[in-house]
Amino acid sequence: MKILLTGGAGFIGSHTCVELCEAGHDPVIVDNYINSCPEAVRRIEQIVGRSVLCYEADVTDAAAMDRIFSENAFDCVIHFAGLKAVGESVSQPLRYYRNNLDSTLTLCETMQKHGVKRFVFSSSATVYGNQPQVPYREDMPSVGCTNPYGWTKFMIEKILEGQCTADPSWSVVLLRYFNPIGAHASGLIGEDPSGIPNNLMPFIAKVAVGELEKLSVFGNDYPTPDGTGVRDYIHVVDLAKGHVKACDYSAAHQGCEIINLGTGHGYSVLDLVNTFERVNGIKIPYVIAPRRPGDIAENYADPSKAKQLLGWTAEKNLEDMCRDTYRFQHNNPKGYQK
Ligand code: NAD
Ligand code: UD1
Repeated sequence: MKILLTGGAGFIGSHTCVELCEAGHDPVIVDNYINSCPEAVRRIEQIVGRSVLCYEADVTDAAAMDRIFSENAFDCVIHFAGLKAVGESVSQPLRYYRNNLDSTLTLCETMQKHGVKRFVFSSSATVYGNQPQVPYREDMPSVGCTNPYGWTKFMIEKILEGQCTADPSWSVVLLRYFNPIGAHASGLIGEDPSGIPNNLMPFIAKVAVGELEKLSVFGNDYPTPDGTGVRDYIHVVDLAKGHVKACDYSAAHQGCEIINLGTGHGYSVLDLVNTFERVNGIKIPYVIAPRRPGDIAENYADPSKAKQLLGWTAEKNLEDMCRDTYRFQHNNPKGYQK
């Protein structure tokens, strides 16, 4: 299958590109490098041992997207492109709504014009909001998002649901990711956040290589086994394999389907710190800090729908996630470019 990956040079897109190549597909990337760089594409090519077609363009640019679709007969599209920093979305809501919604609308209109009807979307567990119970199941109604980033995901899900209602020959898979971490086992591609990371694992990785002094653990008085927040961390390579399965599934399916991609297991902040220290033989200094506003005690997925519909389950464990994250960080202490 020829598959367009918008945002394919990013963290999840680059790993998915590798898994698609290895499954015999033909991925094509479009990225404007607003949060990535061409070096990531060169690394993908190094891993898979062949060249990957990549366009530098903005997905909101209708003329550029029309040209890309004119030059390629796509079977399916995976839409990763988007801005994703929760805190930044609070301070720059218009930029987030403009980029994330406009890119989706432009992409859908271009697909419609060129008769491409299979769409896999990077949604997020953030769409559920702060549910009163775990695990999170796809049939739970959202209780509302807590930030503009989350609302863009919520709105894009609605746009795609509407398109499937209007044209039932469309096939849309809304993948709700839990907390993707880890890196490819080669140590060549991984997460390369700009500035001081907000998310837990990238922060730990920078403490591990001495770039940051210590981790602040946001709260140890939650109603969880050790008092720290519990999340469903999923290895990015498992997540990438889920996209390969979703593309296959979209070929034989019509309509709009929401599917969680998580492991079904929750781990605490201290579980992550302790596992990282143990498997990598490195001390991660930390202090207990106040709770971060907006955080919840615990969430994790019910992943049974992914197993049932896609035949997919996560295979890698927390040790793999910690080992692979550190390998990439150690090999690339300043990320891709420096
Ligand atoms: P990322 O920032 O590494 O990748 C996104 C890519 O999209 C980047 O390469 C960026 O340059 C590109 N991009 C952004 N806007 C663009 C535009 N208008 N035109 C062309 N390219 C554009 O992020 P990621 O972690 O790989 O996430 C991929 C997707 O998954 C995002 O939509 C994100 O919101 C979603 N998601 C991520 C997580 C996570 O924890 N990483 C969790 C849930 C959902
Ligand atoms: C957040 C976003 C989610 C997004 C995800 C990945 C919200 C509500 N959720 O999830 O939309 O998809 O990031 O980008 O904003 N922690 C620390 N110290 C740190 C950083 C984090 O203790 O320096 C703790 C948090 O309190 C939390 C856990 O680690 O308990 C995970 O945090 P994080 O990695 O930021 O992910 P989420 O908040 O789950």
